[in-house]
Amino acid sequence: MKGNKLKILIVGGGGREHSLAWKIAQSPLVEKVFCAPGNPGIAQVAECIDISAEDIGALYNFAFKHHIDLTVVGPEDPLSAGVVDKFEKGGLKIFGPSKRAAMIEGSKSFAKNIMRKHGIPTADFKVFDEPSMAKKYVSSLGTPVVIKADGLTRGKGTYVCKTEEDAFQKVDLILRDKFFREAGDHIVVEEYLTGEEVSILALTDGKTIVPLESVQDHKTAYDGDKGPNTGGMGAYSPVPIINRELYYRIEREILVPIVHAMKKENSPYKGVLYAGLMITSEGPKVLEFNARFGDPETQALIMRLKCDLVPLLYATVEESLDKSASGGLDWDERASVCVVMASKGYPEKYEKWKEIHGLESQKGQDDVQIFHAGTTLKHGKIVTDGGRVLGVTALGKDIREAQKRAYEVIRQISFDGAFFRTDIGAKAFA
Ligand code: AMP
Ligand code: GLY
Repeated sequence: MKGNKLKILIVGGGGREHSLAWKIAQSPLVEKVFCAPGNPGIAQVAECIDISAEDIGALYNFAFKHHIDLTVVGPEDPLSAGVVDKFEKGGLKIFGPSKRAAMIEGSKSFAKNIMRKHGIPTADFKVFDEPSMAKKYVSSLGTPVVIKADGLTRGKGTYVCKTEEDAFQKVDLILRDKFFREAGDHIVVEEYLTGEEVSILALTDGKTIVPLESVQDHKTAYDGDKGPNTGGMGAYSPVPIINRELYYRIEREILVPIVHAMKKENSPYKGVLYAGLMITSEGPKVLEFNARFGDPETQALIMRLKCDLVPLLYATVEESLDKSASGGLDWDERASVCVVMASKGYPEKYEKWKEIHGLESQKGQDDVQIFHAGTTLKHGKIVTDGGRVLGVTALGKDIREAQKRAYEVIRQISFDGAFFRTDIGAKAFA
């Protein structure tokens, strides 16, 4: 890293980006943090600029003009659209995988085929573009069975089907009725796995792999894992079932082979690789890879990361992680719980611009942060502007205490139509 202090640009405007901006702004190496487009919470720690996360040309021009030393990309869309390739071609440093490597998230069939070819444990599957063949395979697998749209669907393109009838309907919905447009030109039909779900994210520069602590998302909208799948309603870290042995097994059987495989397949991977796993009776198997930091998982992880994130991001880009992270990362021993407050109707239609009250209720408590996800300013007031509105994230000596703290703060925050799950973290002590 050069001697001068760094100017950092964060791309995105959700809870994940707020937690990243909050952490990065604390780094003694950093002069200034910008965020495009950001949100009112992020504006407390960074300068928000009015550029959409998808406007790659405008992001590049801004970074070039303002001599940004490092750009950090939050969401998947700009990665899949090639923001990293554009910046690198222009000689600008950017944290994230190339367009080709981001296909590990952008195309489920790409990811599954690489896993099969390189012996990385995952559910049995076949890829289809034609409904009748897909249905034959569904019948041969039996139920439950899992149907996934191939492309990016914001977490909505996966269906766990309990009956054959339901599975046939989903096949038709995606392939025949084009519900997800071209993201559903192909589907993956896969074997249903049972076990405990866990996510392991790892920084990698393509040579060195630095896994982060374990974290668990809560994908469905309502308590008890009921309701439709969402982007994630809450997360906690660490996950008790991930003992040292399992952690190393995941590193050895999944993370190391996939990073090697990506290199062999002409798609060297740099950035953060997110492995969504099912811990089955046969061992860990991959449900999906994401090419970015998870949201809300990152909010829970960032609260526990004690060391400076900036040298790690920089070293990932510079391919020198072997030097920067050789001693491992420094984690808070305490647990964290992030509870998402959402707008009524999410993940389907919801209303916007409801005034949010009680945002000051965490003041003076260092171990609780209110990360903004879907908020905006209207007439000087902070109002809702998305499905997921806030991520209230707390530390505690164990999951139970972190959970208690998060819910204490959440119950002091209100807006019209607010809802949240009341069981985030409960699985950790079930
Ligand atoms: P994905 O879009 O692949 O992340 O899947 C979303 C959710 O669907 C996962 O978090 C799991 O809860 C569930 N899921 C996906 N694939 C499978 C599978 N093969 N077996 C059981 N559940 C699955
Ligand atoms: N919370 C799931 C994700 O970020 O993909």
